Amino acid sequence: MPRTHKILWIATLFSAFAFLGMTVDSLHRMSARTHADQLSAQVVEGKRLWQHYDCNDCHTILGIGAYYAPDVTKSFAQRGEPWLRKFLQNPAAMYPAGRQMPNYHLSGAQIDSLVAYLGWVSRIDTNGWPPAPEGMAPAQGAASAELAGSKVYLAQGCNACHSMQGSGGALAPDLTHVGSRRSKAWILQQLDDPRRNNVQSIMPSFGQLATGDKQQLADYLVSLK
Ligand code: HEC
Ligand code: HEC
Repeated sequence: MPRTHKILWIATLFSAFAFLGMTVDSLHRMSARTHADQLSAQVVEGKRLWQHYDCNDCHTILGIGAYYAPDVTKSFAQRGEPWLRKFLQNPAAMYPAGRQMPNYHLSGAQIDSLVAYLGWVSRIDTNGWPPAPEGMAPAQGAASAELAGSKVYLAQGCNACHSMQGSGGALAPDLTHVGSRRSKAWILQQLDDPRRNNVQSIMPSFGQLATGDKQQLADYLVSLK
Protein backbone atom coordinates (compact mmCIF):
# COMPACT_ATOMS: atom_id res chain seq x y z
CA MET A 1 0.00 0.00 0.00
CA PRO A 2 1.45 3.42 -0.86
CA ARG A 3 2.48 5.52 2.12
CA THR A 4 -0.16 8.22 1.53
CA HIS A 5 -2.94 5.57 1.58
CA LYS A 6 -1.67 4.28 4.91
CA ILE A 7 -1.78 7.77 6.41
CA LEU A 8 -5.28 8.23 5.03
CA TRP A 9 -6.48 4.97 6.63
CA ILE A 10 -4.93 5.76 9.99
CA ALA A 11 -6.45 9.26 9.98
CA THR A 12 -9.89 7.93 8.99
CA LEU A 13 -9.89 5.22 11.65
CA PHE A 14 -8.67 7.69 14.28
CA SER A 15 -11.50 10.14 13.46
CA ALA A 16 -14.07 7.33 13.40
CA PHE A 17 -13.06 6.25 16.92
CA ALA A 18 -13.01 9.81 18.18
CA PHE A 19 -16.55 10.43 16.88
CA LEU A 20 -17.79 7.12 18.24
CA GLY A 21 -16.35 8.00 21.64
CA MET A 22 -17.99 11.45 21.61
CA THR A 23 -21.35 9.99 20.57
CA VAL A 24 -21.32 7.46 23.41
CA ASP A 25 -20.34 10.24 25.84
CA SER A 26 -23.16 12.54 24.62
CA LEU A 27 -25.79 9.82 24.92
CA HIS A 28 -24.52 9.06 28.39
CA ARG A 29 -24.69 12.72 29.47
CA MET A 30 -28.04 13.25 27.76
CA SER A 31 -29.91 10.87 30.05
CA ALA A 32 -28.40 12.52 33.14
CA ARG A 33 -29.19 16.03 31.88
CA THR A 34 -32.75 15.19 30.90
CA HIS A 35 -33.27 13.01 34.03
CA ALA A 36 -35.04 10.52 31.76
CA ASP A 37 -35.63 8.29 34.79
CA GLN A 38 -38.26 10.79 36.03
CA LEU A 39 -40.39 10.40 32.90
CA SER A 40 -43.60 9.32 34.65
CA ALA A 41 -46.86 8.28 32.94
CA GLN A 42 -48.29 11.66 33.97
CA VAL A 43 -45.46 13.55 32.24
CA VAL A 44 -46.07 11.49 29.07
CA GLU A 45 -49.80 12.24 29.26
CA GLY A 46 -48.97 15.97 29.58
CA LYS A 47 -46.85 15.80 26.44
CA ARG A 48 -49.75 14.06 24.61
CA LEU A 49 -52.11 16.85 25.68
CA TRP A 50 -49.54 19.43 24.54
CA GLN A 51 -49.68 17.81 21.07
CA HIS A 52 -53.42 17.21 21.13
CA TYR A 53 -54.15 20.91 21.75
CA ASP A 54 -51.38 22.07 19.38
CA CYS A 55 -49.93 24.33 22.09
CA ASN A 56 -46.90 24.61 19.77
CA ASP A 57 -48.99 26.68 17.36
CA CYS A 58 -48.27 29.66 19.60
CA HIS A 59 -45.54 28.53 22.06
CA THR A 60 -41.98 27.29 21.81
CA ILE A 61 -40.81 24.48 24.07
CA LEU A 62 -37.24 23.12 23.96
CA GLY A 63 -36.59 25.09 20.78
CA ILE A 64 -39.58 23.75 18.83
CA GLY A 65 -42.71 25.76 18.08
CA ALA A 66 -43.95 29.23 17.29
CA TYR A 67 -43.05 32.66 18.66
CA TYR A 68 -46.46 34.23 19.15
CA ALA A 69 -46.57 33.36 22.84
CA PRO A 70 -43.87 32.97 25.55
CA ASP A 71 -41.29 30.19 25.42
CA VAL A 72 -42.56 27.84 28.15
CA THR A 73 -39.40 25.70 28.54
CA LYS A 74 -38.69 27.28 31.95
CA SER A 75 -42.18 28.53 32.86
CA PHE A 76 -42.47 26.03 35.69
CA ALA A 77 -39.29 27.33 37.35
CA GLN A 78 -40.02 30.99 36.57
CA ARG A 79 -43.72 31.07 37.48
CA GLY A 80 -44.09 28.32 40.04
CA GLU A 81 -46.64 25.54 40.19
CA PRO A 82 -49.56 27.43 41.88
CA TRP A 83 -49.39 30.19 39.29
CA LEU A 84 -49.39 27.69 36.39
CA ARG A 85 -52.41 25.86 37.81
CA LYS A 86 -54.40 29.07 38.19
CA PHE A 87 -53.30 30.25 34.78
CA LEU A 88 -54.34 27.03 32.97
CA GLN A 89 -57.74 27.11 34.71
CA ASN A 90 -58.39 30.61 33.42
CA PRO A 91 -55.65 32.29 31.35
CA ALA A 92 -57.50 35.61 31.05
CA ALA A 93 -57.43 36.17 34.83
CA MET A 94 -53.62 36.23 34.83
CA TYR A 95 -53.00 38.36 31.77
CA PRO A 96 -56.00 40.66 31.92
CA ALA A 97 -54.53 43.46 29.90
CA GLY A 98 -52.37 41.62 27.39
CA ARG A 99 -52.83 39.25 24.49
CA GLN A 100 -54.94 36.38 25.67
CA MET A 101 -54.52 32.68 25.48
CA PRO A 102 -57.65 30.66 24.62
CA ASN A 103 -59.37 28.96 27.57
CA TYR A 104 -59.30 25.22 26.88
CA HIS A 105 -61.59 24.43 29.85
CA LEU A 106 -59.08 21.80 30.94
CA SER A 107 -60.11 19.26 33.58
CA GLY A 108 -58.21 19.01 36.89
CA ALA A 109 -56.49 15.81 35.69
CA GLN A 110 -55.46 17.45 32.41
CA ILE A 111 -53.97 20.41 34.30
CA ASP A 112 -52.09 17.97 36.60
CA SER A 113 -50.55 16.27 33.55
CA LEU A 114 -49.65 19.50 31.74
CA VAL A 115 -48.06 20.89 34.92
CA ALA A 116 -46.11 17.61 35.40
CA TYR A 117 -44.89 17.86 31.81
CA LEU A 118 -43.88 21.52 32.13
CA GLY A 119 -42.12 20.66 35.42
CA TRP A 120 -40.16 17.81 33.82
CA VAL A 121 -39.13 19.97 30.86
CA SER A 122 -38.16 22.83 33.14
CA ARG A 123 -35.75 20.58 35.08
CA ILE A 124 -33.82 19.65 31.91
CA ASP A 125 -30.37 21.24 31.99
CA THR A 126 -30.48 23.55 28.95
CA ASN A 127 -27.44 25.60 29.95
CA GLY A 128 -29.71 28.39 31.21
CA TRP A 129 -31.77 28.75 28.02
CA PRO A 130 -34.15 30.53 27.63
CA PRO A 131 -33.34 33.47 29.95
CA ALA A 132 -36.09 34.82 32.25
CA PRO A 133 -38.46 37.17 30.38
CA GLU A 134 -37.93 40.90 30.64
CA GLY A 135 -39.13 42.34 33.94
CA MET A 136 -38.77 39.00 35.74
CA ALA A 137 -35.14 39.32 36.77
CA PRO A 138 -34.91 40.73 40.30
CA ALA A 139 -33.48 44.25 40.59
CA GLN A 140 -29.70 44.31 40.93
CA GLY A 141 -28.24 45.38 44.25
CA ALA A 142 -31.44 44.94 46.27
CA ALA A 143 -30.98 43.78 49.88
CA SER A 144 -31.12 39.99 50.13
CA ALA A 145 -34.41 39.84 52.10
CA GLU A 146 -36.08 42.11 49.58
CA LEU A 147 -34.57 40.10 46.76
CA ALA A 148 -36.12 36.90 48.15
CA GLY A 149 -39.52 38.62 48.44
CA SER A 150 -39.33 40.11 44.96
CA LYS A 151 -38.54 36.66 43.54
CA VAL A 152 -41.69 35.26 45.15
CA TYR A 153 -43.64 38.23 43.76
CA LEU A 154 -42.49 37.48 40.22
CA ALA A 155 -42.68 33.69 40.52
CA GLN A 156 -46.32 33.93 41.67
CA GLY A 157 -47.25 36.19 38.78
CA CYS A 158 -48.47 39.05 41.02
CA ASN A 159 -47.28 41.35 38.21
CA ALA A 160 -49.86 39.88 35.85
CA CYS A 161 -52.44 42.07 37.66
CA HIS A 162 -50.37 44.55 39.68
CA SER A 163 -47.82 47.03 38.44
CA MET A 164 -44.71 48.29 40.16
CA GLN A 165 -42.51 51.15 39.02
CA GLY A 166 -44.20 51.29 35.68
CA SER A 167 -44.21 47.61 34.70
CA GLY A 168 -46.91 44.98 35.15
CA GLY A 169 -50.66 44.58 34.71
CA ALA A 170 -53.33 47.24 34.98
CA LEU A 171 -56.10 45.23 36.63
CA ALA A 172 -55.09 45.82 40.24
CA PRO A 173 -53.65 48.69 42.34
CA ASP A 174 -50.07 49.81 41.70
CA LEU A 175 -47.85 48.44 44.49
CA THR A 176 -44.88 50.81 44.13
CA HIS A 177 -45.65 52.46 47.52
CA VAL A 178 -47.87 49.80 49.10
CA GLY A 179 -45.76 49.79 52.31
CA SER A 180 -46.86 53.34 53.09
CA ARG A 181 -50.55 52.36 53.24
CA ARG A 182 -50.64 48.70 54.41
CA SER A 183 -49.19 46.87 57.43
CA LYS A 184 -47.50 43.49 57.24
CA ALA A 185 -50.43 41.84 59.05
CA TRP A 186 -52.89 43.32 56.56
CA ILE A 187 -50.82 42.09 53.59
CA LEU A 188 -50.56 38.58 55.06
CA GLN A 189 -54.33 38.55 55.42
CA GLN A 190 -54.73 39.76 51.83
CA LEU A 191 -52.54 36.86 50.65
CA ASP A 192 -54.51 34.27 52.64
CA ASP A 193 -58.00 35.50 51.94
CA PRO A 194 -58.49 38.59 49.76
CA ARG A 195 -62.26 38.34 50.25
CA ARG A 196 -61.90 39.09 53.96
CA ASN A 197 -60.56 42.55 53.08
CA ASN A 198 -62.96 43.12 50.19
CA VAL A 199 -65.93 40.80 49.62
CA GLN A 200 -65.90 41.48 45.89
CA SER A 201 -62.17 40.93 45.43
CA ILE A 202 -61.10 39.15 42.27
CA MET A 203 -57.60 38.55 43.61
CA PRO A 204 -56.94 34.80 43.95
CA SER A 205 -55.99 33.49 47.40
CA PHE A 206 -52.30 32.65 47.83
CA GLY A 207 -52.99 30.83 51.10
CA GLN A 208 -51.32 27.68 49.77
CA LEU A 209 -47.91 29.40 49.53
CA ALA A 210 -45.22 28.19 51.96
CA THR A 211 -45.19 30.24 55.19
CA GLY A 212 -41.59 31.34 54.55
CA ASP A 213 -42.52 32.63 51.09
CA LYS A 214 -45.50 34.55 52.48
CA GLN A 215 -43.31 36.16 55.14
CA GLN A 216 -40.64 37.19 52.61
CA LEU A 217 -43.28 38.54 50.26
CA ALA A 218 -44.95 40.57 53.03
CA ASP A 219 -41.57 41.87 54.30
CA TYR A 220 -40.72 42.95 50.78
CA LEU A 221 -44.05 44.72 50.20
CA VAL A 222 -44.04 46.64 53.51
CA SER A 223 -40.52 47.85 52.63
CA LEU A 224 -41.93 49.63 49.56
CA LYS A 225 -42.68 53.04 51.08
C1 HEC B 1 -53.56 30.95 20.20
C2 HEC B 1 -52.25 30.99 20.83
C3 HEC B 1 -52.00 30.09 22.04
C4 HEC B 1 -52.17 28.73 22.15
C5 HEC B 1 -52.67 27.76 21.09
C6 HEC B 1 -51.74 28.38 23.48
N1 HEC B 1 -51.31 29.48 24.16
FE1 HEC B 1 -50.42 29.52 26.01
N2 HEC B 1 -50.24 31.54 25.91
C7 HEC B 1 -50.63 32.32 24.83
C8 HEC B 1 -50.35 33.71 25.13
C9 HEC B 1 -50.63 34.89 24.20
C10 HEC B 1 -49.75 33.73 26.40
C11 HEC B 1 -49.22 34.91 27.19
C12 HEC B 1 -50.09 36.02 27.36
C13 HEC B 1 -49.34 37.32 27.17
O1 HEC B 1 -48.18 37.32 26.74
O2 HEC B 1 -49.93 38.33 27.46
C14 HEC B 1 -49.69 32.34 26.86
C15 HEC B 1 -49.13 31.96 28.07
C16 HEC B 1 -48.97 30.63 28.48
C17 HEC B 1 -48.28 30.19 29.68
C18 HEC B 1 -47.59 31.10 30.67
C19 HEC B 1 -46.19 31.31 30.23
C20 HEC B 1 -45.41 32.18 31.18
O3 HEC B 1 -44.37 31.73 31.66
O4 HEC B 1 -45.84 33.30 31.43
C21 HEC B 1 -48.37 28.82 29.72
C22 HEC B 1 -47.79 27.90 30.77
C23 HEC B 1 -49.13 28.40 28.57
N3 HEC B 1 -49.47 29.52 27.83
C24 HEC B 1 -49.45 27.09 28.29
C25 HEC B 1 -50.18 26.69 27.17
C26 HEC B 1 -50.62 25.33 26.94
C27 HEC B 1 -50.38 24.17 27.88
C28 HEC B 1 -51.29 25.34 25.74
C29 HEC B 1 -52.01 24.17 25.07
C30 HEC B 1 -53.02 23.52 25.89
C31 HEC B 1 -51.24 26.69 25.22
N4 HEC B 1 -50.57 27.49 26.12
C32 HEC B 1 -51.77 27.08 23.99
C33 HEC B 1 -51.17 31.88 23.64
C34 HEC B 1 -51.46 30.57 23.32
C1 HEC C 1 -55.93 38.14 39.20
C2 HEC C 1 -55.37 39.43 39.56
C3 HEC C 1 -54.49 39.53 40.81
C4 HEC C 1 -53.36 38.80 41.12
C5 HEC C 1 -52.74 37.65 40.30
C6 HEC C 1 -52.86 39.33 42.35
N1 HEC C 1 -53.66 40.35 42.79
FE1 HEC C 1 -53.34 41.50 44.46
N2 HEC C 1 -55.04 42.52 44.09
C7 HEC C 1 -55.86 42.36 42.98
C8 HEC C 1 -56.95 43.33 43.03
C9 HEC C 1 -58.06 43.47 42.01
C10 HEC C 1 -56.75 44.08 44.21
C11 HEC C 1 -57.63 45.24 44.70
C12 HEC C 1 -58.30 44.92 46.00
C13 HEC C 1 -59.08 43.66 45.93
O1 HEC C 1 -59.96 43.55 45.03
O2 HEC C 1 -58.80 42.76 46.73
C14 HEC C 1 -55.56 43.56 44.84
C15 HEC C 1 -55.01 44.06 46.02
C16 HEC C 1 -53.78 43.73 46.52
C17 HEC C 1 -53.11 44.41 47.61
C18 HEC C 1 -53.61 45.64 48.33
C19 HEC C 1 -53.18 46.83 47.48
C20 HEC C 1 -53.50 48.16 48.07
O3 HEC C 1 -53.37 49.16 47.34
O4 HEC C 1 -53.90 48.26 49.21
C21 HEC C 1 -51.93 43.77 47.81
C22 HEC C 1 -50.86 44.12 48.85
C23 HEC C 1 -51.85 42.69 46.84
N3 HEC C 1 -53.00 42.70 46.08
C24 HEC C 1 -50.79 41.83 46.73
C25 HEC C 1 -50.71 40.82 45.78
C26 HEC C 1 -49.62 39.88 45.72
C27 HEC C 1 -48.43 39.89 46.64
C28 HEC C 1 -49.89 39.02 44.69
C29 HEC C 1 -49.11 37.80 44.25
C30 HEC C 1 -48.84 36.83 45.30
C31 HEC C 1 -51.15 39.45 44.09
N4 HEC C 1 -51.61 40.53 44.79
C32 HEC C 1 -51.74 38.86 43.00
C33 HEC C 1 -55.69 41.43 41.95
C34 HEC C 1 -54.65 40.50 41.87
